[in-house]
Amino acid sequence: MSHRLTQSLKTYTASKASSRFSSPSSFWCRHESTALHFYQNKHLDLYASREAKRLTLRQLVFFGRSMDEERLVKSANYVRTELPVRIAHRIRDLQSLPYVVVTQEGVAKVYELYWTAFEKFRRYPPITNLQENQAFCQFLSGILDEHATVIPNLSLGLSLSSPYLPPDVLDSFMRRMLVSRISRRVLAEHHIALSENYVGKHARSGRRDSSEAHVGIIFTALDVRKSIERCARLLQKQPVTGETDPNLAPCPEIVIEGHTETRFSYIREHLEYIVFELLKNSIRATQINNRGSSVLPPVKATIAAGTNDVGIRISDQGGGLLAVQKRYGIQSPSDLFSFSHVRNSARMEVDRIGALRTVISRPQGVWATVGEQIPRIGIGLPMSNIFAKYFGGSLELISVDGWGTDAYLRLPKLGTNLEGIEV
Ligand code: COI
Repeated sequence: MSHRLTQSLKTYTASKASSRFSSPSSFWCRHESTALHFYQNKHLDLYASREAKRLTLRQLVFFGRSMDEERLVKSANYVRTELPVRIAHRIRDLQSLPYVVVTQEGVAKVYELYWTAFEKFRRYPPITNLQENQAFCQFLSGILDEHATVIPNLSLGLSLSSPYLPPDVLDSFMRRMLVSRISRRVLAEHHIALSENYVGKHARSGRRDSSEAHVGIIFTALDVRKSIERCARLLQKQPVTGETDPNLAPCPEIVIEGHTETRFSYIREHLEYIVFELLKNSIRATQINNRGSSVLPPVKATIAAGTNDVGIRISDQGGGLLAVQKRYGIQSPSDLFSFSHVRNSARMEVDRIGALRTVISRPQGVWATVGEQIPRIGIGLPMSNIFAKYFGGSLELISVDGWGTDAYLRLPKLGTNLEGIEV
């Protein structure tokens, strides 16, 4: 265990007095709590007591639309002061877990990363001009890279800890961790993109294709059909079945129908993460369910532009979810979003744990290179659910057993919902 982690764990144990779970760690409180840890925890207390300043998508767009140096510096200082507050809330969450959980491979790594990031942000001096902002953006990019493996680490750690946590506690903890992580990365990446746009604006002025209009990381006229097509193209290049059967049919056709001209303001990366995962699952189910057939039924993506939402339905003829539910002891399709092995025994599968370790060991947590089989680490559906809900949308799976599955994604199109409460 690294020195820093040992230190962090001591800090962790020293603050467990208010924990809901008892642990043998009160020993540390009495005997090993140093002045350093006392002060570290005082800082954490201070930041954790502040409320996050949540934003709407619309606010992010409006603020970023007309940039000048003063607004960019303001954005930098918002990110500089907001991220340590959001990280502090999650460190507190980690501290309220039983000791056996926070010391698990994966969870311990995340705890260490968060303490380090918290300390760095807390000490970062105010930004006053463009040059300092450039340095701040480099600092942010470095932290984003360092945290690339947080999700597989958490997923591994929580799978290993699943026997020690009631399913509701595990799932709500994981939801808070993931919502908060999405929120921090949105703020950091949006600020970096705003800064890059501002600096590059003069050189590229007027040359940007208006069909790709964006403010920071938010695409203001995101073309839903193009996003679905982009995901389909990627999946057609990538074997997704996890089967070695050479007779397995190739990727089925992906048909896009409905309001195919739909555009709305959204974070393209979020939409495409969800669509990619849903299509991937549908393709896999269709291939397996129609083994031996020369012609596969298509996977259909239907787009609906409602008054307040954009809806996307992905329908397949992959036989429905009953077989998967039976295999993993899953009561209802919504339990596929669970991280607890009690609700979904796939969480403890040896192959899945192995795939998570593989991903974690890769530089920057790269999941797969083009043409390589995507490791089945089993976090695509829960992550998609969290991405969908982040700005107030939803994701639902309906299984028509013996026929296929429909996934209903709904994303708000007005951008007026605040980020999830758990940031
Ligand atoms: C994460 O990716 O987990 C982060 O918290 C990144 C943020 C500190 C910029």
